[in-house]
Amino acid sequence: MTKHLHLNLFIHGRGHHEASWRHPGASTLPLTDIRYYAECARIAEAGLFDSIFLADSLGVGDDVASAPRTWLEPVTTLAALAGATNRIGLIATCSTTYTEPFNLARQFASIDHMSNGRVGWNIVTTWLATASGNYGGAGPLSHAERYERAEEYMRVVSGLWDSWSDDAILDDRATGAYARTDGIRALNHAGRFYQVTGPLNLPRSPQGRPVFVQAGSSETGRRFAARYAEAVFTAQMEKATAKDFYADLKRLVVEEGRKPEHVLILPGLSPVIGGTEAEAQRIARELNDLSDPEVGRKRLSGRFGGHDFSHLPLDKTLSPEDFPDPGTVEAARSRTEVIIGLVRREKPTLRQLLGYLAGARGHFVTAGSPEQIADLIEDWFRDGAADGFNVMPPVLPSMLEVFVAEVVPLLQRRGLFRTEYDGDTLRALYGLPRPDVRFHAGANEALQGGAST
Ligand SMILES: Cc1cc2nc3c(=O)[nH]c(=O)nc-3n(C[C@H](O)[C@H](O)[C@H](O)COP(=O)(O)O)c2cc1C
Repeated sequence: MTKHLHLNLFIHGRGHHEASWRHPGASTLPLTDIRYYAECARIAEAGLFDSIFLADSLGVGDDVASAPRTWLEPVTTLAALAGATNRIGLIATCSTTYTEPFNLARQFASIDHMSNGRVGWNIVTTWLATASGNYGGAGPLSHAERYERAEEYMRVVSGLWDSWSDDAILDDRATGAYARTDGIRALNHAGRFYQVTGPLNLPRSPQGRPVFVQAGSSETGRRFAARYAEAVFTAQMEKATAKDFYADLKRLVVEEGRKPEHVLILPGLSPVIGGTEAEAQRIARELNDLSDPEVGRKRLSGRFGGHDFSHLPLDKTLSPEDFPDPGTVEAARSRTEVIIGLVRREKPTLRQLLGYLAGARGHFVTAGSPEQIADLIEDWFRDGAADGFNVMPPVLPSMLEVFVAEVVPLLQRRGLFRTEYDGDTLRALYGLPRPDVRFHAGANEALQGGAST
């Protein structure tokens, strides 16, 4: 059987282009209207996408005066989308740094129940420096500490999702037996960062636990992904770096004793699609003409943890020396590596760099006809750069509609994409196994008891 590629829709603002919110092809609904998200999810579902994904940012951007930085809280939104869709997977971002593990475990288990097994969790450590001010923190944590906490966090939430066996609920009205307590175990986790007794207060969900998605690409981020992730989003600006990333991550996955096919690698792709290449280029120009380079300058500064770029003239040709060393960046480290890599290769002016980043914040942007987009997807997929794509339409919903109407049928005709839904859960769509219950090593023997670790 031919292996199929996987497609995820990344719903972000009114599209991924910085200026999309002003474009005539963008939705006219407010970004706080659930009908907008439901419409995008339903279009993706009609196109047989595997999943939709919502990102999150735990503070308002300082460029909100001229860019939409307001959206609904993703976990709540996912719950609403569970009722608005039937087959498509539903992935939301939630932060290991700023969410109590018990809360997160309950919320994702609940949505897995509500959606009959379609939930995924994008595990982030939150790179945004200003987020700590909203959570009573003394200051942002370093890149290293965020990942250290995340390691322990994964043990806690996995233990909570494993604290119920699949057959613990009896719900037997005749005998009065509701649950088997030997199928429910406490966790008794006492670690460096977390103390969590458990068990979770709701039964095991259809998928056992959410599909683990991860999107950190730094050295530490890759190791973390290799240990836990089942799908990985990544920003790559060209096929060559995407292939290197793909090969390196699959190697790390094998080193961790896991099967490479159990971790899907989905680079971001933002396609501007026109009837012809010339029309696509025209739409791309239209979008670029609507963008404000000063918004881009602020966003660039945020990525580099607040570094000041205000002294750089827009028409200055950039060199890597204009940027801080990525190894010293505590914010979005891998994205800063991607940006400096582009500067080293192409020596753009600041205006050109900001124009490129306006497309999709450092993800791969291209403009072309449906055939050209399908060719590119096929090439990356067949050439070991991707297991599928994180589709990031520049304008929503219009460019998603074009993708579904024009590109998906081409992929299907080439035998690269499903022609009907081929699984009931997100795990099944992604071709992933359902995890067995593993009672935590330190768990007590039964619900009652209390041996501690
Ligand atoms: C497609 C994609 C989506 C992401 N979504 C979020 C998000 O919603 N919230 C967040 O804090 N970070 C998000 N990130 C950032 C990563 O999770 C990660 O924090 C960042 O890349 C820095 O970690 P690293 O240096 O290991 O790459 C996203 C990254 C990618 C590629």
